[in-house]
Amino acid sequence: MGKKPFIVGNWKMNLTLSEGIEFAKSLKNSLHGINEILCGICPSFVFLKDICKVLEGSHICVGAQNVHSEKNGAYTGEISALMVKEAGCTHVLIGHSERRHLFGEIDSFINAKIKTALSVNLKPIFCIGETLKEREEGRTEYVVEKQLKDGLLGIDNNHVEGLVIAYEPVWAIGTGKTASPEQANEVHSFIRGFLTDNYGKVIANSVYIQYGGSVKPENTAELISQPEIDGLLVGGASIKLESFLKIIDAASIQ
Ligand code: 13P
Repeated sequence: MGKKPFIVGNWKMNLTLSEGIEFAKSLKNSLHGINEILCGICPSFVFLKDICKVLEGSHICVGAQNVHSEKNGAYTGEISALMVKEAGCTHVLIGHSERRHLFGEIDSFINAKIKTALSVNLKPIFCIGETLKEREEGRTEYVVEKQLKDGLLGIDNNHVEGLVIAYEPVWAIGTGKTASPEQANEVHSFIRGFLTDNYGKVIANSVYIQYGGSVKPENTAELISQPEIDGLLVGGASIKLESFLKIIDAASIQ
């Protein structure tokens, strides 16, 4: 699609603060002067401010892993979009499958979170994907389309432009089972088609569609070389600097 690959590491609930800071410092040094790719990391909430500080002056962006849908209020234990923005984040993961499946997040809640994130100028990385059962029943496209429709309900075209969507088949997350490059590309094409039908070709082509699910250095090149895969959302392989750098390296030479 002619875009720079956008590689994001989702650290989930991993690393300590000191490990995170060391990682960010080394990543910044390693990527200094490299302009062929876009890169980001999504650390724990409590590391965000420190890591944003370390990465100041670099092109590496920082995202939170979640935010609440309300702007503020009596929501004990929750974090607002503005708090995350003030910590220095530019992005936020919304609707990650672990939030959907382990914490019961539904499409309408995800839609509200996307709107709130956009209202404070945070860029959502909107995650979607089917379960193994849904795939086996032949319902992948139905599920993905519903997640897209409900998640993007009422969102202006200008906010869909340049949006990041991460297609993460649930059965491929943390399982070592990657979708084949063709399987991933097929769903990415479907997502692009949905965007074209609903927002037009120009906006559809401006959207970054990342693939996530057991991405590792060994499968990066073939995934990223698929025409509809604009980037990768990496879990387990992003918490070790060496493997994350190998992924970035493999993606940038495509
Ligand atoms: P893994 O790369 O560990 O499968 O995780 C993918 C993911 O959930 C990224 O958000």
